[in-house]
Amino acid sequence: MHPRQLIVCCFIISCIIILSQCVGEKTYLRGEQFAEATSCATCHKNIYDTYISSAHSITSSPSNVKGSFISPDNVFHYSNGSKVLMEQRDSGLFQVGDQETHRFDITIGSGRKAQTYLYWKDGRYFQLPISYFVPAGKWANSPGFPATHPKFDRMIPSTCFGCHSSMVALKEVKMERLHIDEEFERNKMVFGIDCQRCHGPAAEHVQFHMAHPEEKEGRHITRIRDLNNQQQLDMCAICHSGLKTPQKNPFGFKPGDALSDYIYPDLSRPARPQEMDVHGNQYQLLTASKCFMKSKGMMDCSSCHNPHTSEKNDLQVFSQRCMNCHKTTNHKTAVLTDNCIDCHMPALPSNAITLLANGETSPTADSVRTHLIAIYTRLK
Ligand code: HEC
Ligand code: HEC
Ligand code: HEC
Ligand code: HEC
Ligand code: HEC
Ligand code: HEC
Ligand code: HEC
Repeated sequence: MHPRQLIVCCFIISCIIILSQCVGEKTYLRGEQFAEATSCATCHKNIYDTYISSAHSITSSPSNVKGSFISPDNVFHYSNGSKVLMEQRDSGLFQVGDQETHRFDITIGSGRKAQTYLYWKDGRYFQLPISYFVPAGKWANSPGFPATHPKFDRMIPSTCFGCHSSMVALKEVKMERLHIDEEFERNKMVFGIDCQRCHGPAAEHVQFHMAHPEEKEGRHITRIRDLNNQQQLDMCAICHSGLKTPQKNPFGFKPGDALSDYIYPDLSRPARPQEMDVHGNQYQLLTASKCFMKSKGMMDCSSCHNPHTSEKNDLQVFSQRCMNCHKTTNHKTAVLTDNCIDCHMPALPSNAITLLANGETSPTADSVRTHLIAIYTRLK
């Protein structure tokens, strides 16, 4: 068997095992150990206020659709002559095909680069055929969908919500040969990635501090800074190491847990890191970089990212973070010190995610900042 086929098989089998454990148990519901998502605002107002508009916080939503509903921009044309119209009606927003019409029920993607949309039908979520491609400012064919005609029957598995939401409730999971049939509970979802998705369940923390307002030390909550380097990386890698074979329900991940308990070892990893797709694989690319390997456990995602604020496109701030370690450099010619990024972490096309924008004849790749920090003039 080819390694890829083996991986796909393992993926399906482990999904079946994980999901069959969920049948009837509703393990996807958050449970009493979780506080109300908004409760953190009372005592952590500054963090909460910047976090609430970040890409994590709004990565899934019942609204937040970015594309245009005004003619002539509200259309996508297929090669067989059919089309889908984006329509705003009194009862909501719809994708109207020649044969079928469905509502924009859920938006996946904050709107940094692309959004894709789901509709609800009989306990299942389906992906709508048209996505929005932000750099082009146009509606586009959803990635992997046929360019010839609209397709409305792509079912969305719960794994999608495992990285793009904070909770989704499953009603029932059935096995049909090698195909998993998941039935969801309607309107039982915590949209976006909230504080407890990274910090773990915090009901006890909230109750304690409500009762003891004089206490200045955080209690009943993991101190992230006390975790070791691998544990801090794993907190992010649970979602930033690409689509891997799951071993355990990702909603159960807490800071301090090991990624290796949640996903199976990565057998698909190419020998040369530069061959790895830039989409989603931030953890693998970073850890293959010389910066990481030579930093002896001093580098994690927080070396450059503030998890509570969007610093997107502020390349000067990121370059400062490089210079925390690289106080001096040995460039042969003088280089800009306010942008180390474009030379050493260029935005590269993803092979996995391409979008065909309306009116274009060939698809455009999603472009993602690589986390393989390197000298690109030498890398072949
Ligand atoms: C009633 C007040 C209160 C509420 C509500 C509250 N916290 Fe805290 N939290 C504190 C105090 C006090 C500290 C210690 C001082 C600090 O680090 O801000 C703290 C510290 C923390 C820390 C840092 C722990 C450390 O030492 O590194 C985290 C993480 C945290 N809280 C998360 C949360 C989350 C998530 C929520 C919402 C589910 C929340 N808190 C709600 C009072 C509260
Ligand atoms: C529960 C899954 C999950 C976890 C945990 C997670 N991320 Fe993300 N992250 C995402 C998703 C999904 C996106 C894409 C959001 C979008 O634009 O819709 C994202 C986007 C980002 C972005 C780009 C957004 C921007 O504003 O530039 C950064 C940077 C990032 N994550 C860093 C981190 C770091 C650092 C950690 C760990 C401290 C982390 N993430 C943990 C799922 C996660
Ligand atoms: C993407 C993952 C992620 C999310 C979501 C997240 N945090 Fe954090 N948080 C971290 C990490 C990582 C650290 C440690 C940062 C460091 O090492 O400087 C941290 C540190 C903290 C601290 C202690 C240090 C400080 O900066 O004061 C508090 C308090 C805190 N977070 C509260 C919150 C609250 C409240 C929310 C929701 C509004 C939230 N966090 C959402 C990852 C996250
Ligand atoms: C293993 C975690 C994971 C899974 C599963 C996953 N994603 Fe993502 N997704 C991410 C991360 C991380 C990003 C942002 C970083 C990147 O593009 O490398 C992202 C980005 C996106 C974006 C672009 C957001 C933006 O504006 O940049 C869309 C749209 C999206 N995902 C849709 C989906 C859909 C639909 C599914 C399910 C069929 C899915 N994703 C499954 C982790 C995941
Ligand atoms: C935590 C500290 C740290 C941070 C932050 C850091 N680096 Fe490094 N980097 C290192 C170390 C250590 C080396 C190895 C130096 C050596 O070989 O002596 C290195 C090596 C490099 C190299 C040489 C790579 C090669 O293949 O030869 C480049 C280029 C580089 N870093 C650029 C950057 C850029 C750009 C940033 C910011 C985006 C950055 N670094 C952030 C520690 C860091
Ligand atoms: C050496 C600095 C550095 C480290 C360490 C680092 N990043 Fe980044 N990251 C960046 C820079 C610079 C960007 C580009 C920011 C921009 O263009 O807005 C970026 C962008 C991102 C993006 C958005 C990519 C895109 O183009 O959509 C994600 C997601 C992300 N980082 C996740 C992570 C995760 C997860 C980790 C830890 C495994 C991590 N980063 C570690 C510097 C770093
Ligand atoms: C115009 C592109 C460019 C910019 C901007 C740039 N670099 Fe480089 N960097 C290179 C090239 C090319 C090399 C290989 C050596 C050479 O040809 O000078 C290199 C080499 C390096 C090295 C390895 C050699 C050494 O000094 O140890 C480090 C580290 C590094 N760069 C860090 C940085 C940092 C930090 C910044 C931002 C302050 C930065 N670079 C800005 C192109 C660039």
